Amino acid sequence: MSPQDRQKKEAARAALAEVPKGCWLGVGTGSTTNYFIQLLPKRWVKGAVASSEATAKALKRRGIQVVPMIPSRKLAVYVDGADEADPRLRLIKGGGGALTREKIVATASRKFVCIADGSKWVKRLGRFPVPLEVVPIARHQVAAAVRKMGGRPVWRKGFLTDNGGEVLDVHGLRIADPAKMEKRLEAIPGVVCAGIFGKRKANLLLLGTRNGVRRLRAGSKTR
Ligand code: 5RP
Repeated sequence: MSPQDRQKKEAARAALAEVPKGCWLGVGTGSTTNYFIQLLPKRWVKGAVASSEATAKALKRRGIQVVPMIPSRKLAVYVDGADEADPRLRLIKGGGGALTREKIVATASRKFVCIADGSKWVKRLGRFPVPLEVVPIARHQVAAAVRKMGGRPVWRKGFLTDNGGEVLDVHGLRIADPAKMEKRLEAIPGVVCAGIFGKRKANLLLLGTRNGVRRLRAGSKTR
């Protein structure tokens, strides 16, 4: 196992302690989340809401009940990875293309526990391109609007999300204020979701490092 994978797995293991027994859980998408699913004891949670078809499959394989969104109540915890996390626990997500459902499930949860390896930690968001899920007929129009904002959109050709959307990965955006940029991007007609989690940021980041897992809350120092 590579050092990066070891960090992902240790962060995933640390997240188990954040999941109350018998709760309804939200589960994200990606390799770090997959470690979490592998480590989650079968009867620990009542059931889970998955942020993607892939995650739903993995949970069912583990024998964990998967339910659609529960309209009447919030999920206790949402556990998911990230492509970037800043010191205020604002995130870039969507490397795996599940950003829209991830944002929906994260928003429906009382607590968002983000699990990541050390490479995801950044002082300022924006090195990783910002994924945008777009309605297919709007792709060119969204790309033009994003260029006007100084971004360089790259179409994830041949990829469709679980919602039938297309993805543009936007490079080169200057993200001074993540929540503002998220709002601006999501105001472009045809954008379903921007992969900036500035409004619904994480409550806790479990960051795998060479020296173990660090528990970070918004504003805490890392190194
Ligand atoms: C998927 C995501 C993932 O959480 C993000 O891409 C991190 O993935 P990984 O855990 O494989 O590094 O946002 O849409």
